[in-house]
Amino acid sequence: MTSRKVLLAPSLLAADNLNIERSIDSLGNNYDWLHLDIMDGHFVHNLSFGPDMARALRAKYPDMFIDVHLMIDRLDILLPLFIEAKPSLITIHAECEGHLLHASLSRIKKAGIKTGISLCPPTPVRNIESVIDLADLVLIMSVTPGFGGQKLIASSLDKVRELVSLREVHKYNYLIEIDGGINDNTIMDAARAGCDVLVAGSAVFDNENPCEWLAKYKEALNNLDIYRI
Ligand code: DX5
Ligand code: ZN
Repeated sequence: MTSRKVLLAPSLLAADNLNIERSIDSLGNNYDWLHLDIMDGHFVHNLSFGPDMARALRAKYPDMFIDVHLMIDRLDILLPLFIEAKPSLITIHAECEGHLLHASLSRIKKAGIKTGISLCPPTPVRNIESVIDLADLVLIMSVTPGFGGQKLIASSLDKVRELVSLREVHKYNYLIEIDGGINDNTIMDAARAGCDVLVAGSAVFDNENPCEWLAKYKEALNNLDIYRI
């Protein structure tokens, strides 16, 4: 048995738009990945950052694990721009132009970037079984994608458990990430359900002291009494 390390990934969607760098500084060293939500106003009903933000983060933080979550259509046009920005991982949605899923994951992998597949709340895990072997990570959206500050949909944790079993049965290596509604009330349940990476936006950046909030949960997660066989 090996103990599980659960990673914390603050989402810059909730950072101070006029002071992104200061927001990142406010995290101290108590986080693992920076989560960057990309929204195109079409796949989801909101707009956020573009490839230039991913590129600027990479230039400023060369060793940072930059976790890009693409909530966009037109992967044929936009994916190459995000690949050029050299993030550490790019997640695409199973619901987005499904016929491009296999090709897009292969394209990301070929560029030496880790691959993620994300599922919106209504999408079942079985929809990605044919491509899951190409994924370094599966991201379960635990709210309707598009906006921060929503309430976690409880059935998302069932999907996390399903992914844990599937990984066990088929000896896959993907990490399981959860995104949306992670806060004081839900964070430990999400970790216990089997998540390896916890994205949190408003719980981190709306807190008076993001660094302390992260430190508190870093310790709690280190002491979590569950193991992966
Ligand atoms: C929603 C985004 C999330 C969002 C999470 O579409 O993918 O990453 O920032 O925000 P909170 O943690 O506030 O629910
Ligand atoms: Zn996200």
